[in-house]
Amino acid sequence: MRAVAVKKQSRPPARLVLLLPAGLALLAGLDSALTLLGLPAPVRFDRLPDVHGQLMVLGFVGTLVALERAVAVGRHWAYASPVLLGAGAVALLSPAPLAVGRALQLGGAVALLALYVPLWRRQPARAVAVQAAGAFAAVGTALLACAAVPIPVLAPWLVVFLVLTVAGERLELMRIAAPPPAVEVTLLGTALALLSGAAAALLSPRLGGGVLGSALLTLALLLFRHDVARRTVRGEGQRRFMAAAMLAGFGWLAVAGGIWLAAGTVTAGPGYDAVLHAVFLGFVISMVMAHAPVILPAVIRRPLPYRPLMYAPLLLLHGSLALRLLVGDAWGVGWAVQVGGVANIVAVLGFLGIAVGSIVVSRSSTVRRSAPVDAAPRAAVSVPVP
Ligand code: HEM
Repeated sequence: MRAVAVKKQSRPPARLVLLLPAGLALLAGLDSALTLLGLPAPVRFDRLPDVHGQLMVLGFVGTLVALERAVAVGRHWAYASPVLLGAGAVALLSPAPLAVGRALQLGGAVALLALYVPLWRRQPARAVAVQAAGAFAAVGTALLACAAVPIPVLAPWLVVFLVLTVAGERLELMRIAAPPPAVEVTLLGTALALLSGAAAALLSPRLGGGVLGSALLTLALLLFRHDVARRTVRGEGQRRFMAAAMLAGFGWLAVAGGIWLAAGTVTAGPGYDAVLHAVFLGFVISMVMAHAPVILPAVIRRPLPYRPLMYAPLLLLHGSLALRLLVGDAWGVGWAVQVGGVANIVAVLGFLGIAVGSIVVSRSSTVRRSAPVDAAPRAAVSVPVP
């Protein structure tokens, strides 16, 4: 990673505007989460709880992923994907028919898949193929949503999109440690199994759950065994923080896999809540927290220095998720689901607050820092994260 001089007066890039719809989707998604938990929410309007999943997955995380990939491609057209995904989230929140938001998200997902063409040409590796398979699942998600397939039925596609996006990034880094070739092949096989499982679940939740569950368990095991996080967790500072967040995420992936394997792709009730949030909060948001200090600077051209305080929301996230899932959902304890859910929200907002504070504080400094601030990740699919 290159050391880059951070100039106080350097102008923020125009693409920063694209973080606004992503931020809006996050805040609206958190607001609707309160309603879904059966609690009062600051903002209420009828369809908010119905669009929570689409706002969170394609609107918030999807826009961030697409933005990072667009920066990596480095061409104007590449920004079509984050623009469309962000616009889709805004449309879902507007009085426009739901079909408008869904169509925009479909356009954004197709554009995201297209981004992998130049990325593949630049680096024809299995890691890129795995991430492209994730983008293919995003297209599947958006297509099914356009066909008015209910979210609980298409939920496995949402899961596969984000799981493969993260797994592909981790595979890219595993290659530094030169794992046996069988590892890459197994990971690619797992990606295909996840896509097949998501398709099978549309016809048979039991069969689909079996395939998806086994694939998630294999993936969790593979990541735990071969990811560099197991080594870097013995380091210090930012490396240790990132590794801790990732290892905890692998654990939640295994929990989700276990539930799907045992119960099939449940579409309602505690098992549904548990699988979705083991993946989306335990795995995906933990990964977002882990990677934020490295990936965001490349996007916003501002340093986001790691702070030990970042452990507070990370620990709260995993602790409250354990309360919500392992006590609340597993034993049918309503208050644990609500308290855990609210603490999940506080953890996400807390991390956001610390990240923004860290950026603002570092802006006032003209000290040279070692971060990939200006180095748009053009040489690879994404920013290298050890
Ligand atoms: C931060 C705290 C969050 C809380 C408190 C929360 C809460 C909830 C609740 C209570 C449900 C309904 C579950 C059920 O029907 O049994 C739900 C559904 C869902 N959540 Fe979350 N959620 C949170 C974050 C997220 C995130 C970060 C994502 C994705 C990145 C996500 C994706 C979903 C999806 C896809 C559904 C299914 C929606 C549907 O069936 O229409 N959630 N959430």
